[in-house]
Amino acid sequence: MSASDVRILMQMLRGQSRSGTHAERLQAFYAPQAARYDAFRERLLQGRRELIEQLAPGPGADVIELGGGTGRNLAFFGQRLATFGSVTLVDLCPALLEQARKRLEGMSNVRVVEADATTWQPGDPVDCVYFSYSLTMIPDWREAIDNALAMLKPGGLLGVVDFYVSDADPEPGLVRHGKLSRAFWPRWFGHDGVRLNPEHLRHLRTALPDHSLREQRANVPYLPGLRVPYYVFVGRVG
Ligand SMILES: C[S@@+](CC[C@H](N)C(=O)[O-])C[C@H]1O[C@@H](n2cnc3c(N)ncnc32)[C@H](O)[C@@H]1O
Repeated sequence: MSASDVRILMQMLRGQSRSGTHAERLQAFYAPQAARYDAFRERLLQGRRELIEQLAPGPGADVIELGGGTGRNLAFFGQRLATFGSVTLVDLCPALLEQARKRLEGMSNVRVVEADATTWQPGDPVDCVYFSYSLTMIPDWREAIDNALAMLKPGGLLGVVDFYVSDADPEPGLVRHGKLSRAFWPRWFGHDGVRLNPEHLRHLRTALPDHSLREQRANVPYLPGLRVPYYVFVGRVG
């Protein structure tokens, strides 16, 4: 285990502070690990490349990532990033946005905005909005989804990749997680302010009946034998 991983694990074990505003808690949690954030999350946050490839915005598209952190996901677009009309990375944590600004310097079609994903709106409707492991960190997640939907043009795409646990009695065709998984993972991640909640997926599927969904499990660094559930959702607005 590298020294950098040890520092990040210590920070995660300490968990998120319970005092201060949501923005202050994010800053206190992420500032000590911001420079090493990407390397550790590479192994923890699976399905991000898949989400970006599925969204596949075309040349000229206007794209928004809500809770975009360090901007790591924009690299998954590769050379296509420069062909988009505009790309906006919205996040509430200055320490992570500082990393994003360094990474995205010189990209004239990309802007970095410090704002709350539950209320911020672009000037004009856009083609594609996505959340990558941010919905579970937003306490007012329902407002965040509804705010994202309000950003989209007719026919626009909303993408989400995130951890979750299923309902005890999921709808037909959906994966059912065992009682132990449903109890363990929300507790494990809750310590770090990550709230796994079957309601997220239910709300997304109801709001966007025209969607694709892939339910998966991923290894977790330093938790051998345990696989955390995550999903990749892409829905189209009517
Ligand atoms: C686990 S990180 C994911 C970052 C990035 N999307 C990725 O895939 O690496 C969750 C992000 O959500 C951001 N976040 C949490 N609540 C937010 C809010 N209300 N508005 C905007 N960003 C928020 C955090 O600051 C953090 O950058």
